[in-house]
Amino acid sequence: MEVANRTGVPSPSKKTYDRMSELKALDDTKIGVKGLVDSGVTEVPRMFFRPSDYFDNVPVAAKDQFKFPIIDLEGYDKDPVRRKEIVDQVTEASETWGFFQVTNHGIPDSVTEGMLEGVKRFFEQDVEEKKKWHTRDNLKATVYNCNFDLYRSPMANWRDSVDFNMSPKIPKPEELPEACREAVINFSRDIMNLGRTLMEFFSEGLGLHKDYLKDIRVDEGNAILCHYYPPCPQPEVTLGTSQHADTTFFTILKQCYIGGLQILHKGYWVDVPPTRGAVVVNIGDLLQLITNDRFISVEHRVIANRQGPRLSAACFFYTGLFPIPRLYEPIKELCSEESPPKYRPTSVRDFCLHFKAKGLNGMTPLARFSINRDT
Ligand code: OGA
Ligand code: NI
Repeated sequence: MEVANRTGVPSPSKKTYDRMSELKALDDTKIGVKGLVDSGVTEVPRMFFRPSDYFDNVPVAAKDQFKFPIIDLEGYDKDPVRRKEIVDQVTEASETWGFFQVTNHGIPDSVTEGMLEGVKRFFEQDVEEKKKWHTRDNLKATVYNCNFDLYRSPMANWRDSVDFNMSPKIPKPEELPEACREAVINFSRDIMNLGRTLMEFFSEGLGLHKDYLKDIRVDEGNAILCHYYPPCPQPEVTLGTSQHADTTFFTILKQCYIGGLQILHKGYWVDVPPTRGAVVVNIGDLLQLITNDRFISVEHRVIANRQGPRLSAACFFYTGLFPIPRLYEPIKELCSEESPPKYRPTSVRDFCLHFKAKGLNGMTPLARFSINRDT
């Protein structure tokens, strides 16, 4: 309790830090971190401070210490020998890095760059128009807010986000903001096609029929999650996005050329180098679960930067919180007596509910669904 002096005004010396009020004040503005930066803040407010134990002991890899996998998809649909080569590279990267970039993926730059321009237009549009899209209801077609886990996570992140739920419930055009409607529709369509090709590669690499992942509806859900990372006056005290692994089957991401995405690899934070024309692919927790740990879902984060805004658009392959009862479990063909199932069956919704409830706090929800553990 704060002690008030005789005038009824709390004495500044006794004033304690009230994190909840600070978070609520930010949330109530509905203009997030961009609003703070536009108002001219020169110091990062305390709610964004990164706890001191937050992976501070993990070093950042030197520039050429590791070779981040880049896979050229040229010719995958023309020549079976070439296709096999690509499938092998995708499989190896999915087993050892959980992340890779692809080039010559068939999506025109105008679509990927157009998506980032659309994200910029959305966040930089008239403030009153933007506020209309502000919500914390994750089942709406357009979900714009600052930190989905604002009130639950240990630190707020230096970014604003907008999520477009493109399926399983298909949005009406007017449910998508005009500033980026066309860009989102084009990006979602082309990324879904690339995703379906990658699903064939994943299936073939696992020794399954090429339509295996399609038949179990891995492409049923599609959310386009876009982030706007304003320039940060003190990048070392906070993060753009806290370390986390995606709760998706897999994710395809387009980042702009500022960089800042890092993944945890062999005990180091390794930069995902912005690469012209490329998109980033990463395995999510649900694919790790159904492959019984053959493919790995790897922790990643985005560091804050004095430069900005940094823009990114990720396509999440999963149905998120939509109430779809289908259960997922380790694929029988990938389990054996020597390699029994490591996870119990779960719906995508239950898996995501567990994740959303705790926010980005560095813990994987996979542990909760692991057999032999009851965390
Ligand atoms: C995410 C994510 C990275 C980025 O949205 O899950 O990791 O570059 N984004 O914004
Ligand atoms: Ni992520």
